[in-house]
Amino acid sequence: MQINFKALSKKYQTPYYIYDFDEITKNYKELKEAFKARKSLIAYAVKANSNLSVLKHLKNQGAGADCVSIGELKRALKVGIEPYKIIFSGVGKSDKELELALSFNILMINVESEAELKRLEILSKRQGKIARISIRVNPNIDAKTHPYISTGLNENKFGVDVDLAKRMYIYAKNSPFLEAIGIHCHIGSQLTELSPIIEAVQIVASLVKSLKSLKIDISFFDVGGGLGVRYKDEVLIKIYDYAQAILKSLYALDLTLICEPGRFLVANCGYFVTSVLYEKQNSNKRFVIVDGAMNDLIRPSLYNAYHKIQVLDKTKDISKCNVVGPICESGDFFAKDIELAQTKPQDLLIIHSAGAYGFSMSSNYNTRTRVAELAFFRGEARLIRRRESFEDLISHEEEFL
Ligand SMILES: Cc1ncc(COP(=O)(O)O)c(C=O)c1O
Repeated sequence: MQINFKALSKKYQTPYYIYDFDEITKNYKELKEAFKARKSLIAYAVKANSNLSVLKHLKNQGAGADCVSIGELKRALKVGIEPYKIIFSGVGKSDKELELALSFNILMINVESEAELKRLEILSKRQGKIARISIRVNPNIDAKTHPYISTGLNENKFGVDVDLAKRMYIYAKNSPFLEAIGIHCHIGSQLTELSPIIEAVQIVASLVKSLKSLKIDISFFDVGGGLGVRYKDEVLIKIYDYAQAILKSLYALDLTLICEPGRFLVANCGYFVTSVLYEKQNSNKRFVIVDGAMNDLIRPSLYNAYHKIQVLDKTKDISKCNVVGPICESGDFFAKDIELAQTKPQDLLIIHSAGAYGFSMSSNYNTRTRVAELAFFRGEARLIRRRESFEDLISHEEEFL
């Protein structure tokens, strides 16, 4: 069954996101199956798309959650993801967030600095608890991706180097309020090369072995997320190869494997649908102006990211153009110099691969209300987030003069 963009656009108006839930299931199953030789947990990276229905759908498949704020953690719990399948990561967790995470009794808190470890020790002592932790190791590996989403080099803010990680594990072993149960690394996002992942896993695996000799036994090995997807013509890592290489690197270590995919599970399941408002020509340049904008889908503006764009039901009179939104920024574009069929007002543009880091990175810039989200599941479309109203948008403000 195909998504009927025309009918849905009439019913819900544009712009909106729509996610194909059957495709999400397919991706989840492929990854889970690839790791079947071991105990594994797929902890979905909530940041990629945090809509409650998306989370619930993944929970129903058996997924856990990788959260980077207390808000994400509350979302995961709200849809019923079991606390023992939840990980809390992030370089800057506040006391309040750490305290809440402790009280929720989640699987583990992923610690990213020595200062955070000591802070967590104080907070868990105060609560009379033992904090289950993992430590995020920064293996100093170039992930060969966009610099904004590369996280595994020492120059990046994430995690701690191998030597410090080892000292932190020793510290945790000697603390009655900390229990180190896991180890973690995540070198970047939209990865299309296997070798940096394997190199990172091997570095972390050898740390696990040296910890073992100190009688520090880790139970969970978290390889992070980062699997790339095809936006244009990228040659992707084969999931089977990815899993096999990781399993091989962890051979002889008795560990439950965790991975935290975001983009892989949802990116290519989502479409951003927007209508043409006008076409115009500025000197020799053709602009297609649409009702969606950078506040709805910021990836092209932020990373110069490519998204395939198609004019629904039109393939004729193709010429080069920029597809732009109505926001007063020259950075407000979805594509530059792409070949697109001639359009007229109200034609629908389908922006592909928009399921990850689309809505979840959207904002109200220019006092634009955030768009609706729909789910397409077993041949039917359902509204899973209504479009914001102007009243929603100003509801937290006070006119104090
Ligand atoms: C710690 C961590 N895990 C998982 C992810 C998910 O990455 P991706 O969506 O590329 O799989 C991220 C992304 O930033 C991350 O920082």
